[in-house]
Amino acid sequence: MDVSTGRDTRPSALVVYESHVESTETIARAVGRGLVLEGMGATVVAVGAAPPLRLVGLDLLVVGAPTHAFSLGRPRTRQDAVRQGAGSASSATGVRDWLTVAGATPCPHHRPLVAMFDTRVRSTERLPPSAASRGAHLLRHLGFSLVARPQGFVVEGPRGPLRREEVGHAVAWGRGLARACQGRLAAAPPPGPSSVAATTTTAARGWS
Ligand SMILES: Cc1cc2nc3c(=O)[nH]c(=O)nc-3n(C[C@H](O)[C@H](O)[C@H](O)COP(=O)(O)O)c2cc1C
Repeated sequence: MDVSTGRDTRPSALVVYESHVESTETIARAVGRGLVLEGMGATVVAVGAAPPLRLVGLDLLVVGAPTHAFSLGRPRTRQDAVRQGAGSASSATGVRDWLTVAGATPCPHHRPLVAMFDTRVRSTERLPPSAASRGAHLLRHLGFSLVARPQGFVVEGPRGPLRREEVGHAVAWGRGLARACQGRLAAAPPPGPSSVAATTTTAARGWS
């Protein structure tokens, strides 16, 4: 907080998630906690309530989605999730739609750093492809700069639950994201008040 203006000068993040059985939402909230623990402001929001991409004027955008058919969900896979017991409200829209809807472009004046995660059943590190790898590709294609490699969090089965250790991993990942973001901001602060508080230069191993 800047005491002279009363404005919140912390670097800030928006965490946008798609979730049908709550595993991805749980991870999104844990990532948000990690960001806050490192001194960032963080808002966590379901993709159906997220602002259009061009209006995201914060320092960091984190996007999370469940892996559906080795990729981001589509209307058909979201309906499959509902048939398997998910609430129907979550099927209306998804991260793929949010990133590819006509006019989904970054703001020309301000482009947040981005990071992408998914939840998935399989724990293999590299293959097969997943929602995070697809989402990261779309974000790069839109001109965003990734602050970390796409990250997966593992569930025990298609309807969850999350593996016990994954919430802790997500908090740690959020903390690492915050440090990497703050490091980038300190190296090249954008114009505007949020650059004032960017003092940390530590870039944890594994973060780009
Ligand atoms: C239609 C459908 C397709 C899925 N396809 C995959 C897949 O290709 N690979 C995988 O690892 N998990 C797959 N899953 C499992 C989900 O990725 C996993 O259950 C995820 O954690 C669900 O997240 P949510 O609870 O936030 O909706 C699929 C689930 C559904 C419903």
